[in-house]
Amino acid sequence: MAWDKNEFRKRYNTLARIYDPGLGLYRAVGLRIETYRQETVAALQLRPGDTVVDLGCGTGLNFSYLHAAVGASGHIIGVDLTPAMLAKAKHRVQKAGWNNVTLIEADMSTFYLPPQANGILSTLALATVPDYGDVVAKVASSVNAGARIANFELQWPERWPTWLARLAVFLNRPAGVTPDIVRRRPATAIERYFEQVETRELYFGAAYICSGTAPKEN
Ligand SMILES: C[S@@+](CC[C@H](N)C(=O)[O-])C[C@H]1O[C@@H](n2cnc3c(N)ncnc32)[C@H](O)[C@@H]1O
Repeated sequence: MAWDKNEFRKRYNTLARIYDPGLGLYRAVGLRIETYRQETVAALQLRPGDTVVDLGCGTGLNFSYLHAAVGASGHIIGVDLTPAMLAKAKHRVQKAGWNNVTLIEADMSTFYLPPQANGILSTLALATVPDYGDVVAKVASSVNAGARIANFELQWPERWPTWLARLAVFLNRPAGVTPDIVRRRPATAIERYFEQVETRELYFGAAYICSGTAPKEN
């Protein structure tokens, strides 16, 4: 079935209410999601004053780590398709008193990336986009050489018994995870379009962090 952007947005508009507490399920099964967020942000090697784009930023759960990395002089740009997720992100930003965060409602497939971006982050979001390969290719050709990308995703755990993998995907449905999504692998596109790529598997192969550097020639 073809991907329907409006249907997808509608689903995440509904999910927004339960999204943050829903992630408690990950913690309950030992998936150290906050640690993985921190490690993904660390892989961007950001410095104070840098500009970073969070593609599919959702409710802004990466922002505290990004803010700590780029400081008050840096700039965080959160891009998301779903108004209700962005509303949660806005609330988070206002509550924290950060005035260097820009939230943009846009489709990352067509979003014009600021070329001055030093880092592009995406956590649990790139794989939800059917044309994630094109998104990664566009990131590589839009940013300056040396800019970093870092991506944290769940993936189909090849080494798990099939019944357990299926059960894990089923239990993750409230967070928007589907069998299609976990079989997509943005890391493959990052490995293709970026240099100095490092991919590290997490949680017995059910997740990974992949990072790389934008090449000189695109
Ligand atoms: C599973 S949530 C992840 C949110 C956040 N990155 C996190 O780590 O908690 C996926 C997010 O990606 C957003 N998203 C999906 N497709 C998108 C697209 N094409 N452009 C922008 N955002 C998109 C959804 O609206 C949703 O907020």
